[in-house]
Order: sequence, then C-alpha cells, then structure tokens
Amino acid sequence: AAVDKAGYKHFMAKEIAEQPTVLQGALAHYIDADGARVVLPDAGLDFAQVERLTLVACGTAFYACMVAKYWFEQTAHLPVEIDVASEFRYREPPVTPGTVAIFVSQSGETADTLAALRYMTGKADRILSVVNVAESSIARESDLTLPILAGVEVGVASTKAFTCQLTTLALLVLKAARDRGHMTAAQLADRLADLQRLPGLMNAALAVEGPVRALTQELSEARDILFLGRGAMYPLALEGALKLKEISYIHAEAYASGELKHGPIALVDPMVPVIVMAPTDTLFDKTVSNMQEVMARGGKVLLITDATGAAAASDGVWKTLVLPDVSPFLAPILYAVPAQLLAYHTAIAKGTDVDQPRNLAKSVTVE
Ligand code: G6P
Repeated sequence: AAVDKAGYKHFMAKEIAEQPTVLQGALAHYIDADGARVVLPDAGLDFAQVERLTLVACGTAFYACMVAKYWFEQTAHLPVEIDVASEFRYREPPVTPGTVAIFVSQSGETADTLAALRYMTGKADRILSVVNVAESSIARESDLTLPILAGVEVGVASTKAFTCQLTTLALLVLKAARDRGHMTAAQLADRLADLQRLPGLMNAALAVEGPVRALTQELSEARDILFLGRGAMYPLALEGALKLKEISYIHAEAYASGELKHGPIALVDPMVPVIVMAPTDTLFDKTVSNMQEVMARGGKVLLITDATGAAAASDGVWKTLVLPDVSPFLAPILYAVPAQLLAYHTAIAKGTDVDQPRNLAKSVTVE
C-alpha cells in the first residue's frame, strides 16, 4: 500500500512521531502474553551454545549494532565484534566455532551487508538478520530473520527503523542473558516490563520538540558541531552527528567523551556547539567532567539529560534538554528522539530537502 505523509510536512516528521506506536507493535510481537518470555520465530536458538557474536551493518544500522555490543557484553556476558559491512569482508576475519553472525538492515538490500552475509555463510554456526523489509534478500539468505516491524520508512535519514532495530536487539540481549544464566525468570520479567514502558516514555520524550525548535536557528548557523557521549551513549552521539550531517549538511563529528582530550578539544571555541548526551547513569559524573573541560575552553554546550542530571550539571551550559527518567539499559533508545529532532529542525532552519538529502539514497544496492 502507498504511504503518505498523513498531514505531516515531511515523511521524517511522520516517522519520528510514529515511534511510540511502532515500538509498541514490535514489543507485542516478541513478548509473550504473560510478559515473561521473549518469543522468537525459531525456538531452537539457544545463546548458551554461543561463544561469540559478530554484528555487521552500514550507516544507522551499524550504530544500532554498536549499542547492541555494549548490551550483549554487559548484560549477557557474550563477546561481540562489530564492523561496517564494507570493511568486514575484506578483513577476512577468521571465524571460530560457536560464532553467530547478525546482520542489521532496514532495507535488507544493502549490497555491502548482503556480501558480508554471504562471506559468513558456511563459516558462522548461524546467520541471523534484523530487517525491516521481511521479504528482502538479506532476510531470504538468513537462517533466522527477526522483523523489526517499523512499517514502511520513506525518509532517507532512518529514524523509526533505528529505534525498532534497537528494541529488537534489546529483546535478543535479554533472551541471551536468560539463556546464559545471567538473569532469573523474575529478573527477565522485570526487564520486559521495563521495555513495555518504552512507548509511553518515547511519547513523553517527543515533547522536547518545542525546546529543540527554539534552539535550532542558532545551531543552523554553526559550521561544525561536536557530539559527545560515553558507554552506550557514544553510538547515540555518532548517530546524532550522522543524522545532522545527512540532512542539514553541517559538519558534525562524534567522540567518546573520554577521548575528547586526545584531539577534538582543539576544535572547541565559542563557535562550535558541543552536544552532550548524558542520562544519569554510572558514567554521568565522568561525562560531566568532560563537559566542564569543554566549557572551561569557552565551548557552548547543549546538555541532553534527565531532570536529575539537569539539576546537577546545568550550571554554565548554553541550553539543557530534559528527557524523562529511563533505565540506563533503555536510555540509548529514548535518546534517539532528541538526536532526530535536532537534525530535523536544524535542516528545516537551513531549508534543505529533509526527506531527499543530496547525494544520498535510501537503499544502497551497489558496493
Ligand atoms: C543508506 C541510508 C541509511 C542507512 C544505510 C544502511 O546509507 O541512507 O539511512 O542507515 O543505507 O541501510 P540499511 O537498509 O542496510 O539499513
């Protein structure tokens, strides 16, 4: 069926707004009626038998893999390697027994990702794919396909597919943790209940749109913008920078906050906005001290945090965006919303073609 903008100015705006609904659908698809178990299309996948995971993708889907690496390692104690598809295959990585490969792709047709999948076929114990288009090449050539159920995504800059990829991967992480004995049945049920709160939290997070709009005129005048985050918020910083450069054409870079002093701090001056993504978690104080290093050098900081973080660290920052409280595990999903809205409204302020940015394609089927 053809999709239209449903009254929104752009597909991107519609797809950002749809996230609470599509996430709800994805959660309902994978969580059993009792809220006690993660149900996959193939009951045979047992993570207790898995020694290591390899996650491969391109673009935004790669950043979803990067978040998943933190999650699988911390929550399921499973070693993970990740790579962009265009590098992975040419590295000729040795594949040891017990390896499961996961390919993440909205379209399921990205040429590099498909080639990486073919490289792993016959080498990995099992090939999984996390796709939006269920009848795609990548889905067809996998042993097990997990649809992300985002619905048709038209905007070239991926939004709802990213948060649905993250949600599907989070469910897989929880199943892995349970299979591997790192979570009791009761703990799993708690974590699933936490996940079920996500659509409501996303809805509440969309309320930052007003405050975002109020500062994007000023952001749109910047030539360079830096994004900082630590831990699983580092890939979100990368995604925020990617979204912004894709549609506003402003040069944006992301760094792991702790790496700032090893180079990018040289760029800091009052003309370079620095966007810091920092929910209150175990790394919060460290991120704030990195942020203070920026401010001490005249940097103009936009802090994205929760109410506790805002109360603790807003002194001296240029602007603060306040998101709802969320468990640290799910923060990367929620913090995608301000990243998307900042890119969207900055692009509007610049007058660029939001849904069809120059030189980019929705699906890249050539290498
Ligand atoms: C293109 C799109 C991106 C997307 C990437 C990977 O570059 O513009 O939005 O993240 O391809 O696409 P896939 O369909 O494999 O997720």
